[in-house]
Amino acid sequence: AGHQAEAYAIASSMKGMEGALLPILHAIQEKFGFIPSETVRIIADELNLSRAEVHGVISYYHHFRDTAPGKNVIQVCMAESCQSMGAQALASHIEKKVGCGMHQTTSNGQVTLEPVYCLGLCAQSPAIMINEQLHAKMTPEKFDALLAACLG
Ligand code: FES
Repeated sequence: AGHQAEAYAIASSMKGMEGALLPILHAIQEKFGFIPSETVRIIADELNLSRAEVHGVISYYHHFRDTAPGKNVIQVCMAESCQSMGAQALASHIEKKVGCGMHQTTSNGQVTLEPVYCLGLCAQSPAIMINEQLHAKMTPEKFDALLAACLG
């Protein structure tokens, strides 16, 4: 119920904006960490869209999650510059180390892994983001130390 009241407050305060759907989805994900399914109807109603239209936008953009993320969110840049600096091998290392694949959350709920497409640190590739903190020139060794620190 909490989700619904807050989603309604967000959607109704922003619906007058031009192209309101994306900013509303961003605000809701910022609030809850994902777009709870029970908020989709509220967003659709406020914007006079169908639920299918809202779902379509959520699934089109990699950025939006439709399930709750783990306690820690690790995003690995898979765009061109990082690819050329070994992002693929780094991503494999990270998946093995964390124990789940991209777009997945570990069974203990500690870590969600997500690919992202450019973090704006191309000059210092490969880049990753852990819980909204950017980390450049990533190596397997540096990653292992960061992971240990965030898992405490
Ligand atoms: Fe990875 Fe730009 S391509 S930060």
